[in-house]
Amino acid sequence: MKQNKILVVDDEHLIRWSLEQNLKKQGYEVVTAGTGEDALRLVREEQPDLVLLDIQLPGISGIDVLEKIKDHDEDIIVIMVTANSGLENAVRAMRLGAYDYVSKPFNLEELAIVVRKALDSSDLKQEVVRLRTETKKNGPPNIIGESRQVQSLLEVLDKVARSDASTVLVQGESGTGKELVAKWIHYSSNRAEKPFIAINCAAVPATLLESELFGHEKGAFTDAKANKKGLFELADGGTVFLDEIGDMEMGMQAKLLRFLEDRSFRRIGGGRVFTVDVRIISATNKDLHKSIEEKSFRNDLYYRLQVIPIMLPSLRERKEDIIPLATHFIGLFNRDFNKKVQGIAGMAQRMLTEYSWPGNIRELKNVIERAIILGNDDTLLLENLPLEIVAKTSAPSGAPASSFRLPPEGIDIEEVERELIRQALEVTEWNQSKAAKKLSLGIDAFRYRMKKFGYLK
Ligand SMILES: Nc1ncnc2c1ncn2[C@@H]1O[C@H](COP(=O)(O)OP(=O)(O)OP(=O)(O)O)[C@@H](O)[C@H]1O
Ligand SMILES: [Mg+2]
Repeated sequence: MKQNKILVVDDEHLIRWSLEQNLKKQGYEVVTAGTGEDALRLVREEQPDLVLLDIQLPGISGIDVLEKIKDHDEDIIVIMVTANSGLENAVRAMRLGAYDYVSKPFNLEELAIVVRKALDSSDLKQEVVRLRTETKKNGPPNIIGESRQVQSLLEVLDKVARSDASTVLVQGESGTGKELVAKWIHYSSNRAEKPFIAINCAAVPATLLESELFGHEKGAFTDAKANKKGLFELADGGTVFLDEIGDMEMGMQAKLLRFLEDRSFRRIGGGRVFTVDVRIISATNKDLHKSIEEKSFRNDLYYRLQVIPIMLPSLRERKEDIIPLATHFIGLFNRDFNKKVQGIAGMAQRMLTEYSWPGNIRELKNVIERAIILGNDDTLLLENLPLEIVAKTSAPSGAPASSFRLPPEGIDIEEVERELIRQALEVTEWNQSKAAKKLSLGIDAFRYRMKKFGYLK
């Protein structure tokens, strides 16, 4: 775990010394300064996480030092140390962004608590970033699948998570679970308590992407009004997920490659070199070999990124996972929408399994969500599925013939009929003539079929 660094600023040697001893005992790294000028130099050179700052300093005042620190990096926590009389100054300091203040003479135990709390709350700030990625902190997300492909995927993921291999490239069609896999690795690894930060490289313009990843110094460009940490810095100790890496612009690819060499970088417009410990997981649905041939992706970056390559199979290559996944999503959406759907009707299962799922698991999840919202049954029915999935036989609305797709291995037409008769009866509350109309059948033809399938004696 990363050790927090504290800068103690006080003009009294004895106070500096006792604070230093005390904080070191508690496991912090400590640097000290006797003047405001020294303090500002150390803030730049040492990048402390927290500054204990005496308000009354010779020369440049504590308040001015505070302003300059916040100017330099607003994420640095500053706790003011004030003489008993200096309440007014303390209030002013709080307005300028100080986190808290303690009055002299202070009790060392009390001070330790304030420091701990402040550092925890800044960890919390990173937590917010992490929570934006929507994964619960308690353990890795569920990866559902009974197919051979998913079982061997889980074995590989387990090894990757434990090995701390630093770069992983996840490839697969859209909706195959690339981000899920990235989160699984992160939350199963010993980085789990540290941030997982995702960024979509295709959604951010190239110039902005650089400052998002590496951060910038105030004034580095027109909009750089303050110093800003980049994702690599924020994710120190954790994982950065570079989504849609195949869309990264060439110039940026070169910069990323340089960073990957030794995990060190400069903020834009900055001189100081930072080194961080982050695992990079990148993902793409592009065929990177093709991009390399077309000269839109760097060959050397490709090899750097795919130290561990992971290929996610499309859903149609592992049809045996469709029903387990659908069942999993039913459980999820039952909870979300307060429903009690128990299972999937035979025909619906069949159609779900036959469909080709170009949008893979994401599409399946959306289809199930819609079915749960629209349906009011205990069972998910054929009629709750969208047109492109259901082979419509003779819908009264006159569905275009093209929407019927005979599955390659054929279909049992009797079963289709039986299911349609049952559904027609169900939605019309067993009104036979209405049900017959729904299927464009005369009442006799309908009753004949009801008998055939045992609905009428
Ligand atoms: N094996 C799985 N078990 C359970 N849920 C899954 C599984 N795979 C994917 N999902 C779910 O499917 C959805 C899509 O997954 P994800 O966003 O990870 O895909 P992706 O490959 O990143 O997609 P895209 O290329 O569109 O960004 C998510 O809601 C994810 O939780
Ligand atoms: Mg994704």
